[in-house]
Order: sequence, then C-alpha cells, then structure tokens
Amino acid sequence: MGYKITVLPGDGIGPEITDSAIEILNYIGKLEGIEFKIVSKLIGGSSIDQFGSPLLSETLKECASSDAIFLGAVGGPKWESLPHEMKPEQALLKLRKELGLFTNLRPARIYNSLSGASSLKSEILKNVDILVVRELTGGIYFGEPRGITNERAWNTLEYHLEEVQRIARVAFKIAEKRKKHLVSVHKSNVLESSQFWKDTVRTLHKEFQSVKLVDMYVDNAAMQLVREPSQFDVILTQNLFGDILSDISGMITGSLGMLPSASIGEKYAMYEPVHGSAPDIVGKNIANPIAAITSIAMMFEYSFHQPKIAKRIYSAVESVLDGGNRTKDISTSGSRFITTTEMANLIIMEYKNLFES
Ligand code: IPM
Ligand code: MN
Repeated sequence: MGYKITVLPGDGIGPEITDSAIEILNYIGKLEGIEFKIVSKLIGGSSIDQFGSPLLSETLKECASSDAIFLGAVGGPKWESLPHEMKPEQALLKLRKELGLFTNLRPARIYNSLSGASSLKSEILKNVDILVVRELTGGIYFGEPRGITNERAWNTLEYHLEEVQRIARVAFKIAEKRKKHLVSVHKSNVLESSQFWKDTVRTLHKEFQSVKLVDMYVDNAAMQLVREPSQFDVILTQNLFGDILSDISGMITGSLGMLPSASIGEKYAMYEPVHGSAPDIVGKNIANPIAAITSIAMMFEYSFHQPKIAKRIYSAVESVLDGGNRTKDISTSGSRFITTTEMANLIIMEYKNLFES
C-alpha cells in the first residue's frame, strides 16, 4: 500500500511543525507497512519570495495529483501590505476553491490533563467534544461582485441550494455517527441567505430523523459556546460564521496549538493545523506540534480510512500530555516546557510503547 502526499510547509512556524508531523507519519508508515511518497512545495509568503506568486500552477497540479495534502501555515507581517490578490492567504483560498474542498472539519476536544489551560473554568469543560462543520468554498469569502474603491467597499453573500444541501448532508451523516445532535447556525432574523440556509437544512432533516436538529442564531451560538460548550456536538454553519466560531470553540480547549483540521471535497483532501504562522516564535523550536500531528491523525481517518491509527495517534498524544509534558503555549507560566522536536519525539516514543508489539 502506498500514498503520495504533497506537503506545503508555508510560512512562519509552518516548516517546523510540518517537519515534526511528517516524522511521525513516516514512523507510522514503517510500522504499519504503508509507503509514503512525500513531495514538498512552497506556498504563501515563501512562494511569493521565491517565485513572485503565492501559489504556482505547478504546485496546484502537484496537489491535484496526490492522495492527500498537508499544509503548515501561510502569512506573516512581511506580506501584509501586499495588494489583496497577492497576499499569502490567497494561496489557501485558491487551493480550497480549485480543489473543491467544501467541507471543513474542526474538532475541539478537551484533553483532561489540559483543562487547567483553558480560560474557562474546568467544571464547564467537562465532556466538551465539539465538531464544527464549516462550509468552505462558498459564502462571502468567494461571492461576486466584490471590490474596494476610495469611497466604498462591497462583498456578496450568496448560497446556492446544492451548496447548502451538500454540506448539510455531510454534517447530518457525521452527527448520525456521533451524539446525533446538530446545531445549524445562521442569522435568519436578518439575512435572506441565512433564512435560506435554515430552511434548506430543516428540509433535509427529514432524511436524517434520528438526529436532533437545533437552530441557533450566530450571536447566540458565540455566547453559548463560552457559557455551556458541552451542549454542542456537531455545529453546521456557513464559511464566515464557521471561521469565527471555530476559533472560539478551539480556544476554549486551552490552546489553538492543539487543533487540527481537515478540508475535504469529492476528490481531494487537505489537512492543516488551525493555528496560524505565529511569526513571533519562528525558528525557536518552541511551537506546539500537536495540531499538526493530530491533523495527520485526521488524514489517516478520512483519506486512508484507518480510524484505528487515528485513534492511536490521539492516545499517544493524550498519554504524553498526561505525563505532564508541555510546550510553551500550554505550560503554566514560569514552569518548564519542552521544545517542538522533544514533544514530537515523545509522541513517537509513546506510540511505540503503546502499540509496537
Ligand atoms: C482559517 C484562516 C483562513 C480563513 C485565512 C488564513 C484565509 O483564518 O483557515 O480559519 O479565514 O479561512
Ligand atoms: Mn480562521
């Protein structure tokens, strides 16, 4: 068995954390008899510096010819003043759109030993296990017309029936396999596009009657997430609301450094940590590699259909955290912390201890 993976380390801490994650991937590949062919390409700011463009068409082609894509992070202060269409973030948006990655899965779960790292009280965090299903290739991110002049600026928020139906179908199917509870988030009291979203999801619900469907306005959802996060199982929402709510649901777990994501379409899938390029800590070997490593777990689950290996990765991570090992972002202030590479090596060692027999 073999797979080709295109790795896009990107900017900032991207290269450091992707290196760590690929080390684990290769280790598991050897252990499980899976051969990985890894091809690495520039993206974002590093591609702008080298080629004058955030995403070369060759890079896009390379991604389209691989079994999975693994991305570190894009962006940084160096490229912030570039015109909109030249910014590093455009590479990410183009990849999502061109590869049809319409489903974005962002799980936020609590690791028991980390409940003290959250800004919320630990009793509120009991049993928190949320999955945000964010529509990723439509909505206001891509709507036309859009533009900016000295006098005005405008964007368009539009959703087509099939776009809402296909993401809602994914969310219902996932909810069926979890706690059968789906919250559809919108702003139907103000926006026509949200009324349409709400109605479309309600209609589709008839096909998934074992799932309890709850409608929630986005402002209320933001409030409920910090008030009582354990009421949520699967959250389904449009592109922009999902961007915002997934940062909130992520942060209540303690650190964005822990959060993986998967962006999945009919033919392709891309995996990336939710945290950004963290320019303030680049090159110091102190970034938390766990989001990147658990993004590899999601790759095993969704692209290689190996949920057992995915679970094993999560268990190894959990056990290393239970042992008190912390990178800087999840350590309590003043206490000792370990480096990116130390954390990655500990997780490999733990995987070995637990599962290599
Ligand atoms: C994310 C990021 C991106 C987004 C940016 C970098 C374009 O914030 O993946 O959540 O807004 O989707
Ligand atoms: Mn975001």
